[in-house]
Amino acid sequence: MENLIDIKDLSPKEIDKLIEVAKDIMQNPEKYSEKCKHKIMATLFFEPSTRTRLSFESAMLGLGGSVLGFSEAASSSASKGESVSDTTIIVGGYSDIIVMRHPKEGAPLVASMKSIVPIINAGDGGHNHPTQTLTDLLTISCLKNRLDNLTIGLCGDLKFGRTVHSLITAMSRYKNIKFVLISPDELKVPDYVKEEILDKNNIEYVETNDIEEYMKDLDILYMTRVQKERFFNEEDYIRLKDYYILNKKKLENAKKDLSVLHPLPRVNEIATEVDDDPRACYFEQARYGRFIRMALILKMLNIK
Ligand code: NCD
Repeated sequence: MENLIDIKDLSPKEIDKLIEVAKDIMQNPEKYSEKCKHKIMATLFFEPSTRTRLSFESAMLGLGGSVLGFSEAASSSASKGESVSDTTIIVGGYSDIIVMRHPKEGAPLVASMKSIVPIINAGDGGHNHPTQTLTDLLTISCLKNRLDNLTIGLCGDLKFGRTVHSLITAMSRYKNIKFVLISPDELKVPDYVKEEILDKNNIEYVETNDIEEYMKDLDILYMTRVQKERFFNEEDYIRLKDYYILNKKKLENAKKDLSVLHPLPRVNEIATEVDDDPRACYFEQARYGRFIRMALILKMLNIK
């Protein structure tokens, strides 16, 4: 595999292998601590990030490699008008692998066409976020010991939430997956995801705007933040931002072994009182991000 732009760039078999390696890294980190000695990873973040950038950097450091990069467009030559392609060509001369986040849909794909080193899409606008999905899959595999036979509720901003689009794409390849898509009418899953992924794969799904309606059926509840930075007008954002607030009361009818996930950052959509509930798994989920990214870096650099 050259680049990771879309989660479909990885087959389910390759994902199984990444999960297996990530689990081994968690058990035996010292075995991997020098695997990337003399390798350099560049993180080009044209958009803010905490978990994705730092877990990638922590992953590379944990493999004995080095990191360089920038964490905002303003501190790069993008602010002087340099194109993403040119920046990528230049940074490819300074590094072995590039991780890129960009506010424009498709920017990492465009960059990959000119790049001489592998490119990882760390989030492109409201489009895709394949490495968050790898994190989600490792989390689900660790918590549930399976990736099939699951009813998954996705709640919040399903329109602009790139993690949701990549997760639907990935999960639609496993057996007996059902989705409950919970959002306000304005923030429903885009038609292209419904047509090209859900309908094409005959995946069962329902849409609702009531978070409690199907609560009792869910194995996973994946909460998301309303994506403020993708809104065209602030009024709409203000009206929709607190549409869902998951609290203890709303979890009353949920299964005992429900897992509540969230790619984070959380704003108001999960009340902090839920954090003590054994079903709240989002902080654990964020920790898994480092290990699956370690496995991914090894794969993309062809290191055994
Ligand atoms: C997500 C993102 O950037 O899309 N964050 C992350 O990478 N964990 C979710 C979000 O910003 O809401």
